[in-house]
This record gives sequence, C-alpha cells and structure tokens, in this order.
Amino acid sequence: MAEFKLGKASDVTAGKGKLFTVNGKKLAVFKVGGKFYCISGLCTHVGGPLWDGILEKNIVTCPWHGGQFDVTTGKCLRGPPKQDETSYKIIEKNGELFVDL
Ligand code: FES
Repeated sequence: MAEFKLGKASDVTAGKGKLFTVNGKKLAVFKVGGKFYCISGLCTHVGGPLWDGILEKNIVTCPWHGGQFDVTTGKCLRGPPKQDETSYKIIEKNGELFVDL
C-alpha cells in the first residue's frame, strides 16, 4: 500500500461526490457525517461515473442505470451492478486528503 495525496479536504462538500485521479485510477470521494470515504469511481456495471451520482446519506446512486453503493464500504446495494466497488482508506492531515492505494 502507498499513500497518495488527493487534494484539499475543503474540495469535497457534503452531499456530493468528487472525482480525483491517481495513477490513472479514477476515485470517487464522499463526505458523510464529517468523515471522508473513497471508492472506485467507475461503476462496476458498465463504468458509470459514481462521483456524479446522487448521494443520500451513505448511499450513492449511479447516474447511468440507478445502481446503488454504500460509499462507506463499497458494497453494492442495488442492481444492475452485481459487484461491490473497491473501498480505499482516506487519511486527512492538516486539511489535505490522502488515499492508501
Ligand atoms: S453503469 Fe452504473 S448502474 Fe449501469
């Protein structure tokens, strides 16, 4: 595992996803209850942009076909996707966000 800097914590606002790209990998970062969570950014169905999905509490809805994931765990909650998203640990230091990949 290696730690990569994402950007400022203030760039991630509650209730919305934010895209970060690290080493060519698209990551979707969310803020829920004051904590930051990161999952793979592309939906496991056919690659919809989860950072653009609607976030309600801890659940993001894929904007393409309505699949749902728990952003705190990556678990798939509603199809059409069948696979969970990979979940990554976020570390916040001095107002900056880092991810363990
Ligand atoms: S691409 Fe996400 S539900 Fe189809």
